[in-house]
Amino acid sequence: MDRADLLNKNAGIIRGISTSIKSLAPNSTIIVVTNPLDVMAYLVMKITGFGKSRVMGMAGMLDTARFKSFIAEELDCSPKDIDAVVLGSHGNHMVPVIDKTTVKGKPITEFLSDSELSVIIEKTINAGAEIVKYLKKGSAYFAPASAIAKMVMAIANDSREEMPVSAYLEGEYGINDVFIGVPAVISSRGVEKVEIFELDHDTMEKLKAAAEEVRSNISLLSL
Ligand code: LAC
Repeated sequence: MDRADLLNKNAGIIRGISTSIKSLAPNSTIIVVTNPLDVMAYLVMKITGFGKSRVMGMAGMLDTARFKSFIAEELDCSPKDIDAVVLGSHGNHMVPVIDKTTVKGKPITEFLSDSELSVIIEKTINAGAEIVKYLKKGSAYFAPASAIAKMVMAIANDSREEMPVSAYLEGEYGINDVFIGVPAVISSRGVEKVEIFELDHDTMEKLKAAAEEVRSNISLLSL
């Protein structure tokens, strides 16, 4: 199964859980981790009726960590030397922001060619499926758990850290009524605000394509 295959099966589970959260924890903030992530986050918001700040999806933190680690592996350096951010969908339309990818402050394009970067982006997109292939029954857990923990701590500590999360957009980046991975300030309120990065045309088009992929999957939910 790929992430989208999980849609209908998981939608049924998410509907039940969201209904319970709505009645048992009406003041909670929800971090969705179920795939297809961006679609399930949308479903959670619709079923719970929670405001957009209190529902977010964990994906960008995981995908960014993987992207950084694959770059570090390729350049034989520490992932800590790398700044990067992966936006878009938690699926085939992940959008690493190349302009914001640096190694010790220098642009990644000084170290890797377009084709080398493309290989790393493909590895990042397929990392989840690769682990499922090895585990047979089950999916990644260490890295997702670490990513979720960082998001929970940002909420618990009201840290106002900027993180890539799947958030509900109402016109930001010219995108409406869909969850997609964007940079956001995370506080005790949840998604405090969506940050607007200056994206080049190509990256902007990829982000919009990602939103359309998510929107087409949302239409399968028969909401
Ligand atoms: C992965 C799952 C969490 O990417 O979607 O490993």
